[in-house]
Amino acid sequence: METAPAILGEAGVADRCEIVGGDFFTSVPSGADAYLLKNVIHDWDDEKSVVVLRNCRAAMGPGARLLLVETVLPSIMTKDNVIAFADLGIMVGCGGAERSEEEYRELFDASGFTFTSITEVLADGQQTGFHVVEATPTA
Ligand SMILES: C[S@@+](CC[C@H](N)C(=O)[O-])C[C@H]1O[C@@H](n2cnc3c(N)ncnc32)[C@H](O)[C@@H]1O
Repeated sequence: METAPAILGEAGVADRCEIVGGDFFTSVPSGADAYLLKNVIHDWDDEKSVVVLRNCRAAMGPGARLLLVETVLPSIMTKDNVIAFADLGIMVGCGGAERSEEEYRELFDASGFTFTSITEVLADGQQTGFHVVEATPTA
């Protein structure tokens, strides 16, 4: 809340933003077209993640979209997967977890969302390590 105004100002988008504080375990601002959470859900175990996602769901109209920007585990892990260390780090650091597409689908099922797509995030054609995992409110 304190640093956002300067960052948004430097980026030249402050006039398009409203900064709203709050606790996403209690509620999330309602009525937006999209709800984007980057590196947020991976901080939490499944139970707490479902609380956050259900609060997003409650805030969303039927046409809104949920976008999770996260590091996504491959369906088959090998000993060479660097991402396994990220998974271990987030578990030790805050009790969270990196998740596979299937595990995000399970979180969505438990919180009133339907998985729609997963898109790799590239920058100048290079991998960033992030994916956008997208869902819509289940009718
Ligand atoms: C790992 S950081 C990610 C920050 C940013 N999205 C990024 O990718 O750099 C997790 C964010 O969740 C926010 N957060 C943690 N608990 C929260 C809560 N109960 N309600 C709202 N935000 C919370 C923190 O303030 C922090 O900004």
